[in-house]
Amino acid sequence: MSQRRYGFSTRCVRGGETPDPVTGSVATPIHQTSTFHFENMDEVRSVEEGLKEGYTYTRWGNPTQTVAERKLAAIEGGEDALLVSSGMAAVSTTILSLVQAGEEVIATRTLYGGTLHLFQSLLPRMGIKVHFVDSENVTQAEKLVNEKTKVIYFETPTNPTLSLVDIAEAVRIAKENNLTSVIDNTFATPYNQHPLEMGVDVVIHSATKYLAGHDDVTAGVIIGKRLFCALARAVMVHMGSCIDPFAAYLLIRGLKTLDVRMERHNKNALEVARFLENHKKINRVYYPGLESHPQHKLAKRQMSGFGGMVTFDVKGGMEAAINVIDRFQLILRAVSLGGVQSLACMPVLTSHIGHPPEELAKAGITMGMIRLSVGIESAEDIIQDLDQALSSI
Ligand SMILES: Cc1ncc(COP(=O)(O)O)c(C=O)c1O
Repeated sequence: MSQRRYGFSTRCVRGGETPDPVTGSVATPIHQTSTFHFENMDEVRSVEEGLKEGYTYTRWGNPTQTVAERKLAAIEGGEDALLVSSGMAAVSTTILSLVQAGEEVIATRTLYGGTLHLFQSLLPRMGIKVHFVDSENVTQAEKLVNEKTKVIYFETPTNPTLSLVDIAEAVRIAKENNLTSVIDNTFATPYNQHPLEMGVDVVIHSATKYLAGHDDVTAGVIIGKRLFCALARAVMVHMGSCIDPFAAYLLIRGLKTLDVRMERHNKNALEVARFLENHKKINRVYYPGLESHPQHKLAKRQMSGFGGMVTFDVKGGMEAAINVIDRFQLILRAVSLGGVQSLACMPVLTSHIGHPPEELAKAGITMGMIRLSVGIESAEDIIQDLDQALSSI
């Protein structure tokens, strides 16, 4: 595509892609190869020395991956992107590219469970200390910054309670203290939230979720400045978390419909949240698009839409919630999120299983909580399924 900045949907459909120069194939080919042939050693030298563009070995890069990376950079509005094998690979590669033993990270407390484990258990083993601040009060970070601090890391909206981190405030703290700001933008997606435009340095995603969008790919992406992506690639190559070309192809295919899928996710989730908010068997609904959400004003300031995740607390606690979730006929009982089909899970039996009551309370997790990834099915069918399941308790 030309350099002109196209609209969001055009970048999803066409970003990073041109018809194949050899065959004219309109769909990006899957270069399912681990290695690449050279005409002679002169060519090897030119590619290795960076004098000529080319590929040597898929762990370093592959034409299908490159297309996915260019498309993702165009969609998120970054200079460059690095595709990796999972969302967790995106988190770990980013952190290990920015921080070394003896240095520190400040992170918001409410994070995806895998990220929390990395920060609480694995990074300390490598000599990297992580301090935590309340997600809803990122300003606390100012008190923790010292000469060893390198990164401020946050996720917004949070999982599963859908509270928000004030992005502008996190960026201010990062800039004033010379830190790199990193956001996990998985829940919001680039359709609803534009962190790079707000001054965030690095955006990461579990591309497994909305970006791929069909529950059939595991992938992650890091988006930011060209120089940072090159640095992260050097780490990724030696950590070995490269993506398979077929997964990269599925991601390219999924991304083409990101705009239309997100429009429907947003619309369905708001309808579902409104239905649940008025239901007599529900204690509380967590959705940033509801006027009743305690941070709704902030949501309107930093998000252009409110996403497809809705969490609700069923009256009657765990037993009642199990009765509801087990009676779903359309909504699937599964972890993960962001795909075209509606999925539901209970945080106390999945992401937070075995956590002591005081920790659950601190994280705002209730025994009757159900997290719903609202799909793009007909909204009335999702609501009907919720209604019939709730009427059983
Ligand atoms: C917000 C968030 N970040 C990161 C991850 C990790 O992604 P992956 O499962 O692709 O490694 C997840 C997974 O659920 C997530 O929800």
